[in-house]
Amino acid sequence: MATNELLLDVAGLSVRHGRVPALAGIDLQLRQGEAIGLLGANGAGKTTLLNALSGFLPHEAGVVRLFGKPARAGAPHRVAQAGLLQVSQDRDLFGDLSVRDNLRLGCLARAKARYDRNLERVFGYFPRLQERMEQRAATMSGGEQQMLAIGRALMAEPRIILLDEPSAGLSPLFVQEIGAMMQALKREGEVALVLVEQNMRLAAQVVDRFYMLRAGQVVAQGPAAELDRDYEHLAREYYL
Ligand SMILES: Nc1ncnc2c1ncn2[C@@H]1O[C@H](COP(=O)(O)OP(=O)(O)OP(=O)(O)O)[C@@H](O)[C@H]1O
Ligand SMILES: [Mg+2]
Repeated sequence: MATNELLLDVAGLSVRHGRVPALAGIDLQLRQGEAIGLLGANGAGKTTLLNALSGFLPHEAGVVRLFGKPARAGAPHRVAQAGLLQVSQDRDLFGDLSVRDNLRLGCLARAKARYDRNLERVFGYFPRLQERMEQRAATMSGGEQQMLAIGRALMAEPRIILLDEPSAGLSPLFVQEIGAMMQALKREGEVALVLVEQNMRLAAQVVDRFYMLRAGQVVAQGPAAELDRDYEHLAREYYL
């Protein structure tokens, strides 16, 4: 597989929530081995963009090519089966099921035969899950639930993973663990990452490039180095 294969190619994507325009003319690319950041203030359209990429929302205009083929809107199961997995902002765990069953469900669609191997891999990133396999997901702490939600997505052997504010509400130690996991994914190079983050410093440690959204449009983009260098400026310009 070419290391710079274009996994996701979005051109002129527009999306509405009912009659309200939510995304307008989004252009975005993601290549094999890459991690990109989606930044922007509350309501900028970050989650909407992830949901559109995952096939949950109809496209009003534009084209999304996924793994070289046009992706049909309204078919999220197909998108997941093809290897694009989203970890949503509210985690969407099966609260009444155990950690084990949540992880098992993660690998059903794509990677059933490799359950054991994938489980080991997830434990490698999040040892804490191994100690809590029989615990009901709903009783896990917020940070543990975030790890479980990411672990469940990884069980499916994604080629692309979309993470919607994985550090939100987490204490510094958990933020560090999630950060280390994302850096490991990046290093290993098998999973390309789309990371929505309010924590710009965390994003800067993980992503190669960023896109800044405001009112449903990409208003700036650049290399991660710019995030570090121009943090104050970017925050002032696009968050206030
Ligand atoms: N299902 C929906 N119906 C109507 N409007 C919606 C819907 N989902 C989102 N919106 C609106 O679309 C805009 C973008 O929302 P979105 O959730 O994508 O923002 P976001 O960048 O993810 O914000 P946050 O950082 O707060 O999560 C907001 O104005 C929101 O109110
Ligand atoms: Mg959001």
